[in-house]
Amino acid sequence: MRPLKTLERVLSKAGLGSRTEARGWIAGGRVRVNGRTVRTPDFWVDFSRDRVTLDGKPVKPGKKLYLLLYKPAGYLTTYQDPQGRPTIYRLIEDLGAWVAPAGRLDLDTSGLLILTSDTQFAERLTNPLHKVPKTYLVKTSTLLGEEQLEQLRRGVTLKDGPTRPAVVNRLRDSQKYSYLEITITEGRNRQVRRMIEAVDSKVLKLVRTAIGPVRIGELRIGRYRHLAASEVEALVAAQT
Ligand code: URA
Repeated sequence: MRPLKTLERVLSKAGLGSRTEARGWIAGGRVRVNGRTVRTPDFWVDFSRDRVTLDGKPVKPGKKLYLLLYKPAGYLTTYQDPQGRPTIYRLIEDLGAWVAPAGRLDLDTSGLLILTSDTQFAERLTNPLHKVPKTYLVKTSTLLGEEQLEQLRRGVTLKDGPTRPAVVNRLRDSQKYSYLEITITEGRNRQVRRMIEAVDSKVLKLVRTAIGPVRIGELRIGRYRHLAASEVEALVAAQT
């Protein structure tokens, strides 16, 4: 069987952008097949023979995909849920390539999640050996004193062992709650929640605001974007 795909799918599968973006490029006359401009997104392409270009540059198959999703609370970081709860896959369109989350966020946690088709990259990003820092905004159920913050910075003992030193900054206190920014380099199951419990408080709200050098920025909740090549490189460089 010949590897036939629609033009729109060929472009999104190449990891250049979403299918919506691909349709825009095609409609804008920026895409050629064998030298001829094609403006139909469902034009059939045989990637083993046809030559596809975007703005005159060849489109290569199988380019790796790297997405940054701002996960809302209430979505599971899994593909399917037997109980039918919403999963993060509801938030991304069919990109023509399978992307899997690099690490997970709890159901109640919101914030940055990277999804990628590059399994090696995902493994390095999540493996604690590579110490990629992850930063969280935390609202605690009580006011935390300086000694509690120091404990968190030094490391606390959890049932699966002591935590590595963390960067902990107090952002502000309200009358009843503390708002902290915590950066950890491990990412064990429910780690931040358990760290806060270890200093006798609880997490009321948890948002992951950065993974290594990549920050939420302008990304809106529930939305995703493709990482720029420079961001992928910076994430690789953040792995020790
Ligand atoms: N720490 C947690 O406790 N939960 C998350 O989702 C991520 C880090």
